[in-house]
Amino acid sequence: MPGRKLREMAPRERLRRAAPGRRWEEAAETVARGGMSIRDADALVENAVGVYGMPLGVATNFRINGRAYVAIPMATEEPSVIAAASAGAKLAVDVRAHADGPRVAGQIQIMNPRGDAVEALGMRKEEIVGMVRESLPSTHMDVVGGASGGVSCTMLAEDMLKVEFFVDTGDAMGANAVNTACERVAPLIEDVTGGTALLRILSNHMQRMARAESYFDVPGDVAAGIVNAYRFASLDVPRAVTHNKGIMNGVIAVATATGQDTRAMEAGAHAHASSMEGGYGPLSKWEIRDNGLYGSLSMPLAVGTVGGLTGRHPVASICLNDMLGGPDARELAGVMAAVGLCQNFAALRALVTDGIQKGHMRLHSRRLPAAPHASP
Ligand code: MEV
Repeated sequence: MPGRKLREMAPRERLRRAAPGRRWEEAAETVARGGMSIRDADALVENAVGVYGMPLGVATNFRINGRAYVAIPMATEEPSVIAAASAGAKLAVDVRAHADGPRVAGQIQIMNPRGDAVEALGMRKEEIVGMVRESLPSTHMDVVGGASGGVSCTMLAEDMLKVEFFVDTGDAMGANAVNTACERVAPLIEDVTGGTALLRILSNHMQRMARAESYFDVPGDVAAGIVNAYRFASLDVPRAVTHNKGIMNGVIAVATATGQDTRAMEAGAHAHASSMEGGYGPLSKWEIRDNGLYGSLSMPLAVGTVGGLTGRHPVASICLNDMLGGPDARELAGVMAAVGLCQNFAALRALVTDGIQKGHMRLHSRRLPAAPHASP
């Protein structure tokens, strides 16, 4: 029955709607068992003893940059998150989302450099950029800024120099590539500066900025309430943390489903929230524009659609390819920002009207049985 809503279907039928390709039956089997075998787990981490399952659902009603997404995959254990994202998306008028290209910093910490180290580095930039470039594993990656602007250095203390280069990692999140480049180029930098390389590692700061914005169709009193809820978050750090947690409910659920490094995203998001004028603040902004409620969200989202877990976890691969249609990393970051914005809208709307407990507890009441090993 084509008109039926997802919530009226069994999980297998929902998957067929969400991932309608020819492989849907195989996909249904894979997601039903969580996708990862103990062999896969054993190859990924040390001392593996099993696989930890998590509910995978799909949010609906998302139209982003004019494209209707049948289903946005979300892996979360929190009841009402997926329903809220879908309800928020339904009231979004025209979601626009976009993301920058990736710009991943590789950092090399040099201890006890010579007095002329900064000048010496300036003269050998071309050689350093050349070596970083050579060590990148793919032609889809390159040093941002080229030979002249590609390396920067800052004395952080009398005995400590920071050397940084930036890599456009294409559709990869790029951690391995940048870490490898840091380790390869460090001996050359030691040679040039006369110092000793200590840390050689990427930075998770500002890896890729993503933005989403939309008007939302709500009555005037609800819109005014949401703007005041935003003002509360912008004036009070404890509230801002919870406000941002609501955004991360959506962002991290999509990130988990699609095999992203969620820890890098959390660290990057909270650093960004802390770098605002006036200190830690909300990642989104709500205002009245043209008599309507207008929300915008801006945050770093270090996503990749190649490499990492994306190709190695069968469920992540189904979520990316069969459900989302194989987005590139920029599109995926835009989708996550859009979900974060709608999630935030839905939480604030509930909070300024009925409160969240009504819907939350209704869903919570569908309790799971206690774990077999839990004490009574
Ligand atoms: C609950 O997981 C998230 C909220 O607390 C977010 C918020 O307060 O804005 C509802």
